Amino acid sequence: QIVPVILSGGSGTRLWPRSRASKPKPFLPLVGSQTLFEQAVARCPADLGFAAPVVVTGALHLEHVEAQLGEDPAARIIVEPSARNTAAAIALAAYSLEEDQVMLVCPSDHHIGLPEMFAKAAQDAASLAEDGWLVSFGIEATAPETGFGYLKRGEAIASAQGAQGFRTAQFVEKPDLARAKTFLADGGYCWNGGIFAFRVKDFRKELEEHRPQIAVAVRAAVEKGRAEGRRFHPDAETFASAESDSVDYAVMENTRHAAMVPVAMEWSDIGNWHALLDALERDEAGNAHSTSGDVELVDCQNVLVDSDGPRVSVIGLENVVVVVDGNDVMVTSLDGAQKVGKLSGAKNQ
Ligand code: GDD
Ligand code: MG
Repeated sequence: QIVPVILSGGSGTRLWPRSRASKPKPFLPLVGSQTLFEQAVARCPADLGFAAPVVVTGALHLEHVEAQLGEDPAARIIVEPSARNTAAAIALAAYSLEEDQVMLVCPSDHHIGLPEMFAKAAQDAASLAEDGWLVSFGIEATAPETGFGYLKRGEAIASAQGAQGFRTAQFVEKPDLARAKTFLADGGYCWNGGIFAFRVKDFRKELEEHRPQIAVAVRAAVEKGRAEGRRFHPDAETFASAESDSVDYAVMENTRHAAMVPVAMEWSDIGNWHALLDALERDEAGNAHSTSGDVELVDCQNVLVDSDGPRVSVIGLENVVVVVDGNDVMVTSLDGAQKVGKLSGAKNQ
């Protein structure tokens, strides 16, 4: 059985004003009627061989997680006493599980259009992880994005069970633009989707080798922690002493056992309003709206409207996003969408 480890942390500013500290991106129904978090849980059902999920989250998201996780009594919620980035968050799960279990680390703020392709890749990745590989999901790179990790495809490998994949010849987290451009031109690289399959003992061993401080602190925080129903509270002081680092820099760039499974699953991390428009169903003119509010568009093309109530009417515009949320109205060109996080409103939430 594969144990889904679902990560939920951080407070996105890039989908402001819809996403705020009080209602962060994973807990909003951005594409379809389910929230991104609910979709992440639903992608890992028992009938496809998944165990009950382990959610690792901060106190800030706890209420949303409890409300959206459903009743499953076997689910576990590890409540981070403070935010120490993904290496420590994944380590909390790794030191709570059995050493031969395979975890599938899943961010809860992505959209996947083809969940059946995700499920197939998860099986392959888990099979390779059982043989000791640290496996990333490889996504076709279509632009020189600097916010992603890049995987260089190495030799083909197969697990004892026959699952196919590739060695990751190089893992480069968040390259600068010049380097990202050379990776794209090379053709032999894909993006790291941020979804990983690890056997528990291999992850622990790699962390202990490459970031011993994090491994020691998190292991102790788990040992000194306490369970409360399906919640688990690691020891706050011990956990706070762990260095803050992402799993990409801490483990994936350093391990000699990195592998990847390429997967075409209509993946998007919905990094900004433009990306959300691309993930939504659009009309013939390319327009879309992501809420059920009253919207009237006349002579518009590639316009995205998102309103939490007020009626929005737009005439004769192209490549524009209009968002209404509470007392905030935000209007941007599609090109400007990547600067939304820099708005003072977004910073103050
Ligand atoms: N519980 C918990 N605690 N979750 C966290 C924490 C934390 O301290 N920090 C981040 N997360 C969660 C985020 O909510 C997200 O779901 C996931 O972990 C990844 O963190 P991000 O902060 O979104 O990472 P990123 O987008 O910069 O980069 C990662 O994802 C890219 C793909 O979206 C890397 O893995 C890249 O290599 C990858 O390309
Ligand atoms: Mg991200």
